[in-house]
Amino acid sequence: MSAIEVRRISAGETIAVRLPILRPGFPRESAVFDGDDALDTCHFGGFVDRRLAGVASIYRVRMPERPEIEQAWQLRGMATLPEVRGIGIGRALLAACEDAARERNASLIWCNARVTAAEFYRKHGWGVLGAEFDIPTVGPHFRMFRELAMPVGR
Ligand SMILES: CC(C)(COP(=O)(O)OP(=O)(O)OC[C@H]1O[C@@H](n2cnc3c(N)ncnc32)[C@H](O)[C@@H]1OP(=O)(O)O)[C@@H](O)C(=O)NCCC(=O)NCCS
Repeated sequence: MSAIEVRRISAGETIAVRLPILRPGFPRESAVFDGDDALDTCHFGGFVDRRLAGVASIYRVRMPERPEIEQAWQLRGMATLPEVRGIGIGRALLAACEDAARERNASLIWCNARVTAAEFYRKHGWGVLGAEFDIPTVGPHFRMFRELAMPVGR
């Protein structure tokens, strides 16, 4: 059984997983996201046997449908390498992102979830809001979210 370790990494380190998994065939800049270097942003790496095998990031960004909620964080760039999927790296990265958002007083965490990954988020307590929508060059998505410290709207 391989040991999984999750820890903070730099924006630059995320690219080694983001680019091949989330933007295959596109130039490196396509895997650099707005806000990657913002002070509030946190990037996490999931390591298996000390090798980077997965990444995820959170950004302080309000959810379009709930702009009144100031303490909202967006999850982006969630990806694990295919050869190590299904062993808990995604779950560990998601937990690290949720914990980091909670520590920063977030009441809401949200993402644009690929339709193919929606079940992963649903299994971890996230809900869908609204109808499927398309992100050009990436594909169909759902807006998904999870309430953290305080219920949404209270
Ligand atoms: C989605 C992704 C990050 C999941 O990573 P992972 O390391 O395989 O996830 P885990 O091993 O922690 O899986 C946790 C659970 O979710 C399930 N799961 C993982 N990916 C799933 C998916 N795409 N659909 C349905 N269930 C999924 C696992 O089977 C496991 O279930 P279990 O608890 O019943 O055993 C990974 O499949 C991936 O990188 N996919 C391609 C990129 C992508 O779509 N990223 C998300 C963009 S929004």
